[in-house]
Amino acid sequence: MKGIALCGFMGCGKSTVAAALSEKYSLNHIDTDKYIEQQNESSISQMFSLYGESYFRDKEFDAINKLCKQNGNVLALGGGAVLFERNVTALKNSGYKLIFIDTDFDVIKSRLENDTTRPLLKTNDIKELYDTRYPLYEKACDIKIKCKNETGEQLADIIMQTILKEG
Ligand code: S3P
Repeated sequence: MKGIALCGFMGCGKSTVAAALSEKYSLNHIDTDKYIEQQNESSISQMFSLYGESYFRDKEFDAINKLCKQNGNVLALGGGAVLFERNVTALKNSGYKLIFIDTDFDVIKSRLENDTTRPLLKTNDIKELYDTRYPLYEKACDIKIKCKNETGEQLADIIMQTILKEG
Protein backbone atom coordinates (compact mmCIF):
# COMPACT_ATOMS: atom_id res chain seq x y z
CA MET A 1 0.00 0.00 0.00
CA LYS A 2 1.38 3.33 -1.05
CA GLY A 3 -0.86 5.52 1.10
CA ILE A 4 -4.35 6.03 2.44
CA ALA A 5 -7.04 8.43 1.24
CA LEU A 6 -10.10 9.18 3.37
CA CYS A 7 -13.35 10.08 1.66
CA GLY A 8 -16.85 10.86 2.86
CA PHE A 9 -19.33 13.67 3.31
CA MET A 10 -18.35 17.09 4.66
CA GLY A 11 -18.10 16.94 8.44
CA CYS A 12 -17.71 13.15 8.63
CA GLY A 13 -14.35 13.47 10.43
CA LYS A 14 -11.82 12.81 7.66
CA SER A 15 -9.30 15.34 9.00
CA THR A 16 -9.53 14.09 12.59
CA VAL A 17 -9.04 10.49 11.52
CA ALA A 18 -6.21 11.44 9.16
CA ALA A 19 -4.45 13.23 12.04
CA ALA A 20 -4.80 10.14 14.23
CA LEU A 21 -3.54 7.83 11.48
CA SER A 22 -0.60 10.14 10.95
CA GLU A 23 0.25 10.23 14.65
CA LYS A 24 -0.08 6.51 15.32
CA TYR A 25 1.29 5.08 12.10
CA SER A 26 3.85 7.69 11.06
CA LEU A 27 2.05 8.71 7.92
CA ASN A 28 2.25 12.19 6.44
CA HIS A 29 -1.12 13.92 6.96
CA ILE A 30 -2.30 16.18 4.17
CA ASP A 31 -5.74 17.80 3.93
CA THR A 32 -6.19 18.24 0.20
CA ASP A 33 -8.42 21.31 0.71
CA LYS A 34 -5.74 23.07 2.74
CA TYR A 35 -3.10 22.01 0.24
CA ILE A 36 -5.15 23.44 -2.65
CA GLU A 37 -5.68 26.69 -0.75
CA GLN A 38 -1.94 27.02 -0.10
CA GLN A 39 -0.95 26.16 -3.65
CA ASN A 40 -3.40 28.63 -5.13
CA GLU A 41 -3.14 31.30 -2.43
CA SER A 42 -6.91 31.47 -2.30
CA SER A 43 -9.65 30.07 -0.09
CA ILE A 44 -12.01 27.46 -1.50
CA SER A 45 -14.93 29.86 -1.04
CA GLN A 46 -13.10 32.43 -3.11
CA MET A 47 -12.34 29.93 -5.86
CA PHE A 48 -16.00 28.93 -6.02
CA SER A 49 -17.30 32.48 -6.05
CA LEU A 50 -14.72 33.98 -8.42
CA TYR A 51 -14.24 31.16 -10.92
CA GLY A 52 -16.93 28.55 -10.23
CA GLU A 53 -16.92 25.00 -8.95
CA SER A 54 -15.32 23.43 -12.03
CA TYR A 55 -12.23 25.61 -11.54
CA PHE A 56 -11.91 24.25 -7.99
CA ARG A 57 -12.47 20.68 -9.24
CA ASP A 58 -9.58 21.05 -11.69
CA LYS A 59 -7.33 22.30 -8.90
CA GLU A 60 -8.53 19.42 -6.75
CA PHE A 61 -7.61 16.91 -9.45
CA ASP A 62 -4.17 18.48 -9.92
CA ALA A 63 -3.53 18.21 -6.18
CA ILE A 64 -4.74 14.61 -5.84
CA ASN A 65 -2.91 13.52 -8.96
CA LYS A 66 0.32 14.94 -7.58
CA LEU A 67 -0.06 13.82 -3.96
CA CYS A 68 -0.97 10.24 -4.81
CA LYS A 69 2.38 9.82 -6.54
CA GLN A 70 4.05 10.24 -3.14
CA ASN A 71 4.58 7.41 -0.64
CA GLY A 72 3.30 7.35 2.91
CA ASN A 73 0.61 10.03 2.84
CA VAL A 74 -2.73 9.92 4.57
CA LEU A 75 -4.92 12.22 2.50
CA ALA A 76 -8.07 13.77 3.93
CA LEU A 77 -9.94 14.39 0.68
CA GLY A 78 -12.61 17.02 0.18
CA GLY A 79 -16.16 15.68 0.34
CA GLY A 80 -16.67 15.90 -3.41
CA ALA A 81 -13.38 14.42 -4.58
CA VAL A 82 -14.41 10.83 -5.19
CA LEU A 83 -17.52 11.86 -7.10
CA PHE A 84 -15.15 12.49 -9.97
CA GLU A 85 -13.86 9.34 -11.63
CA ARG A 86 -10.51 10.87 -12.55
CA ASN A 87 -9.65 11.32 -8.87
CA VAL A 88 -10.63 7.77 -7.95
CA THR A 89 -8.69 6.37 -10.89
CA ALA A 90 -5.55 8.36 -10.01
CA LEU A 91 -5.68 7.26 -6.37
CA LYS A 92 -6.31 3.60 -7.10
CA ASN A 93 -3.79 3.40 -9.95
CA SER A 94 -1.18 4.81 -7.59
CA GLY A 95 -1.87 2.14 -4.99
CA TYR A 96 -3.76 4.26 -2.47
CA LYS A 97 -6.40 2.60 -0.28
CA LEU A 98 -9.63 4.55 -0.38
CA ILE A 99 -11.47 4.53 2.94
CA PHE A 100 -15.04 5.81 3.31
CA ILE A 101 -15.60 7.43 6.72
CA ASP A 102 -19.28 6.58 7.10
CA THR A 103 -20.58 8.80 9.90
CA ASP A 104 -24.30 8.99 10.76
CA PHE A 105 -26.15 11.78 9.01
CA ASP A 106 -27.42 13.28 12.29
CA VAL A 107 -23.87 13.69 13.56
CA ILE A 108 -22.77 15.25 10.29
CA LYS A 109 -25.76 17.59 10.29
CA SER A 110 -25.08 18.88 13.78
CA ARG A 111 -21.39 19.41 12.99
CA LEU A 112 -22.25 21.47 9.91
CA GLU A 113 -25.11 23.45 11.43
CA ASN A 114 -23.28 26.77 11.81
CA ASP A 115 -20.71 26.28 9.09
CA THR A 116 -20.15 29.24 6.81
CA THR A 117 -16.98 28.07 5.08
CA ARG A 118 -18.35 25.43 2.75
CA PRO A 119 -19.83 26.93 -0.43
CA LEU A 120 -21.97 23.92 -1.33
CA LEU A 121 -23.92 24.17 1.91
CA LYS A 122 -25.14 27.60 0.85
CA THR A 123 -26.76 26.33 -2.33
CA ASN A 124 -27.85 22.78 -1.53
CA ASP A 125 -30.15 20.94 0.79
CA ILE A 126 -27.74 18.99 2.97
CA LYS A 127 -29.93 15.89 3.28
CA GLU A 128 -30.52 15.70 -0.46
CA LEU A 129 -26.81 16.09 -1.12
CA TYR A 130 -25.99 13.41 1.46
CA ASP A 131 -28.53 10.96 0.02
CA THR A 132 -27.32 11.51 -3.53
CA ARG A 133 -23.71 11.09 -2.60
CA TYR A 134 -23.89 8.18 -0.18
CA PRO A 135 -23.98 5.43 -2.85
CA LEU A 136 -21.17 7.15 -4.73
CA TYR A 137 -18.89 7.03 -1.68
CA GLU A 138 -19.78 3.37 -1.28
CA LYS A 139 -18.98 2.66 -4.91
CA ALA A 140 -15.66 4.52 -4.91
CA CYS A 141 -14.18 3.15 -1.70
CA ASP A 142 -12.11 0.03 -1.07
CA ILE A 143 -13.23 -0.13 2.55
CA LYS A 144 -16.20 1.41 4.36
CA ILE A 145 -15.76 2.21 8.05
CA LYS A 146 -19.01 2.68 9.93
CA CYS A 147 -18.44 5.33 12.61
CA LYS A 148 -20.48 5.76 15.77
CA ASN A 149 -18.90 7.20 18.91
CA GLU A 150 -15.31 6.10 18.35
CA THR A 151 -12.43 8.51 18.83
CA GLY A 152 -10.11 9.37 15.97
CA GLU A 153 -7.50 7.10 17.52
CA GLN A 154 -9.88 4.17 17.71
CA LEU A 155 -10.92 4.70 14.11
CA ALA A 156 -7.28 4.87 13.06
CA ASP A 157 -6.72 1.43 14.63
CA ILE A 158 -9.87 -0.01 13.07
CA ILE A 159 -8.82 1.28 9.66
CA MET A 160 -5.30 -0.14 9.91
CA GLN A 161 -6.52 -3.50 11.15
CA THR A 162 -9.07 -3.69 8.35
CA ILE A 163 -6.49 -2.79 5.71
CA LEU A 164 -4.10 -5.44 7.04
CA LYS A 165 -6.86 -8.05 7.15
CA GLU A 166 -8.34 -7.30 3.74
CA GLY A 167 -5.02 -6.63 2.06
C1 S3P B 1 -16.78 19.79 -0.85
C2 S3P B 1 -16.26 19.56 0.40
C3 S3P B 1 -15.24 20.41 1.02
C4 S3P B 1 -14.44 21.17 -0.05
C5 S3P B 1 -15.37 21.88 -0.98
C6 S3P B 1 -16.32 20.93 -1.71
C7 S3P B 1 -17.79 18.87 -1.38
O1 S3P B 1 -14.35 19.61 1.79
O2 S3P B 1 -13.62 20.30 -0.77
O3 S3P B 1 -16.07 22.83 -0.24
O4 S3P B 1 -18.04 18.85 -2.60
O5 S3P B 1 -18.36 18.09 -0.56
P1 S3P B 1 -14.73 18.95 3.23
O6 S3P B 1 -15.35 17.62 2.96
O7 S3P B 1 -13.40 18.82 3.89
O8 S3P B 1 -15.63 19.89 3.91
